Amino acid sequence: MSLTLEKILVKSLTDIKDISNTTITKSDIIFCLMEAIGKDKSYIITNHDECINGNQLTKFNFLLDSLKAGIPLAYVLGNQFFYNYKYYVNHNVLIPRPETEILVSEIINRGDKINKSKKDFNVIDAGSGSGCIGLSINSERGKWNVILSENSHKAVKVLNKNYKSESRKNCFIVMSDWLSAFNDDMADIIVSNPPYIKPDSKEIDKNVSNYEPSEALYSADGGLYDIKRIISESKRVLKKDGLLFIENGFDQSKKVSDILKENYYEDIDIILDYNNIKRFTVSRNS
Ligand SMILES: C[S@@+](CC[C@H](N)C(=O)[O-])C[C@H]1O[C@@H](n2cnc3c(N)ncnc32)[C@H](O)[C@@H]1O
Repeated sequence: MSLTLEKILVKSLTDIKDISNTTITKSDIIFCLMEAIGKDKSYIITNHDECINGNQLTKFNFLLDSLKAGIPLAYVLGNQFFYNYKYYVNHNVLIPRPETEILVSEIINRGDKINKSKKDFNVIDAGSGSGCIGLSINSERGKWNVILSENSHKAVKVLNKNYKSESRKNCFIVMSDWLSAFNDDMADIIVSNPPYIKPDSKEIDKNVSNYEPSEALYSADGGLYDIKRIISESKRVLKKDGLLFIENGFDQSKKVSDILKENYYEDIDIILDYNNIKRFTVSRNS
């Protein structure tokens, strides 16, 4: 029996209704269908009576079964859009989150203000993972030098693939344990979205803890070990008046500000995410 796109959609929606506590949405199913037939959403809507072939159906069923098993959509599809760019992802990197796009916008706005005439404007993205922060900055501001740093070899393989997806200038990948590979006074901006979840946290979603890499999620010392290291090591690597941008957990903003003050950072600004959570901190190296 030949199945039309519409019949597959209706059948899949009926199937997932029978799964208790599922988070699969109609939109997720449409994404799987798009991937299986290699077309966009508008094609599916305007060609709903088209039949799909056996190979496409096998691929679609495989993708839907992976979703049903609880694998996050981005890992099922192998990609995630971030700041309008498509990034390859697998289970060795964190799935780029929409709120982290706020960080990229802030860096571009503030970077434009402080980079009036400088020739060598250096940005370090510490703990790049997929590269979504640093590579998006490189795509938006091709004249800035952007250095992507990571300590996970598995993550660097993903980073490299995303790096090569565009022809890039002024962009480099460095293996480094946080800022240890960098020279003194070299960076105008350092940004990091580090691991910041307490290892015993009860609030973490099962789909996150089961599938995303633990080295991207958890940090010792109540979730603050890596943040403390980045703040103290950035002091040495940032130029005077250079800016440090850090993403933090929903309840860590006050502690992050205190650590910044203890390290003599100035002009500490807190930025909210889409849920009004104090998610990001910007501060100036004095
Ligand atoms: C929360 S993920 C962020 C990934 C990406 N920047 C993003 O925003 O989606 C943190 C990243 O930091 C890396 N990381 C953890 N410890 C590190 C260390 N000591 N030095 C460098 N990178 C580290 C992890 O491998 C992971 O890719």
